[in-house]
Amino acid sequence: MVSTHPAGVQHTGSQYLPQKRSANANISPNQELLPVTAKVNSHDVLEIGGCDITTLVQQFGSPLYILDEATLRLACQQYRDAFQKYYQGESQVLYASKAWNCLAVCAIAASEGLGIDVASGGELYTALQAGVNPEKIYLHNNNKSRDELIFAIESGCTIVVDNWYELHTLVEIVETANTGYVNPRLLLRLTPGIECHTHEYIRTGQLDSKFGFDPNQLEELFTFISKQTALNCVGLHAHIGSQIFERQPHRDLAGVMVQWLKAAAKHGLELTELNVGGGLGIRYVESDDPPSIEEWVKAICEVIQAACATENLPLPKLLCEPGRSLIATACVTAYTIGSSKVIPEVRTYVAVDGGMSDNPRPITYQSVYRAVIANKIAAPITQTVTIAGKHCESGDILIKNAQLPETEPGDILVVMGTGAYNYSMASNYNRLTKPAAVLVANSEANLILQRETYQDLIRQDCLPERLKV
Ligand code: LLP
Repeated sequence: MVSTHPAGVQHTGSQYLPQKRSANANISPNQELLPVTAKVNSHDVLEIGGCDITTLVQQFGSPLYILDEATLRLACQQYRDAFQKYYQGESQVLYASKAWNCLAVCAIAASEGLGIDVASGGELYTALQAGVNPEKIYLHNNNKSRDELIFAIESGCTIVVDNWYELHTLVEIVETANTGYVNPRLLLRLTPGIECHTHEYIRTGQLDSKFGFDPNQLEELFTFISKQTALNCVGLHAHIGSQIFERQPHRDLAGVMVQWLKAAAKHGLELTELNVGGGLGIRYVESDDPPSIEEWVKAICEVIQAACATENLPLPKLLCEPGRSLIATACVTAYTIGSSKVIPEVRTYVAVDGGMSDNPRPITYQSVYRAVIANKIAAPITQTVTIAGKHCESGDILIKNAQLPETEPGDILVVMGTGAYNYSMASNYNRLTKPAAVLVANSEANLILQRETYQDLIRQDCLPERLKV
């Protein structure tokens, strides 16, 4: 049965193309399903960044992450410009690279003036290798190792201190004779006790969270910090969760954080930085309705400015660290369709050549995605199918109830919004090789991640001598 709009217009994959708006209305990438350069070309094939998706798959294989440079840069610029427009003080946007940490992505974010939030020594290493200025790198983690702390201090980045254990370890590191590590630059991460409506696993701001200092210990914390002359504590951090559509939780957070600044000032601590974290949601499906990047930034700036005026505090340097809303929409994953299984009256499974190893979000968070067939983008949608991955696990389903045209083996299925927490959470389950990634811009495609090979899979394997046959 051909699917139609109420008005009788036939549904096709083209319905997901960036919305046509009036000439002066900005497209906020996080409100779109496809990258901003997505088009249907003269062969009726989906193209992104001027590149035909089927040609990319012929050239680079599948599954293939396809990252649209223009969409990523636009999101970076919108964050940066919104702070310049709405905030009277200094500001710095950091890219939360846990969303997708690799050399090329770090380099693009840095070239747009963004700093980088890293969550481990490995992410820090990658950002440094990408040439990011360490003064714009912030290291997170609730259980940083001593080695990671020393790596951070040596590299000159800022450490976002999460807990008392870490604080004592830092004191011990700087007080140990001959280390020469003095005055590491720190922010303190606090748990604001703000609830937001998102998946339980990606909620972090509520009091019952593994992250951050308990704000009930604020007095104790500030008293301790004010005595540490070898630590250079410059500000405060909080992050309340991810994929958030409401603006109120971040407004509340901004208000709470200014109160923390006030409490610090009472202890004689002049804290000059506030980092409000990330969390702005994106549109994965039509019904998702996140605010635009500009609206989100504006809401936070307004509250911070008003609260600082009321409390008679100088405006802090304001930082935020979005991940998903910067990069998710910039990327699609292209798969090749293979087998299918029709269970009459029950369901049709259509299998692709990847799955939970390149996109673990559906099986982990029951996340929903939309897909199109790149080579049938203009064909009428006629069926509802279940897109299965190729892993030995029944739960390896990428999309339940995907609305597609008739499909056949060799068709290229494109899943949208896969730029965040896909590659960065990818695994080698069933010893599948991790996909390649290409960066597309101005009709050119550059490889940014090579496809893994079978040799790569056994590179870390060791076969003890006595097991060799
Ligand atoms: N800052 C901190 C301290 C964070 O923990 C996170 C995300 C961010 C910033 C960026 O948040 P975003 O703007 O991306 O919402 N794997 C999950 C998401 C985990 C988020 C972890 N922290 C997912 O696939 O939905």
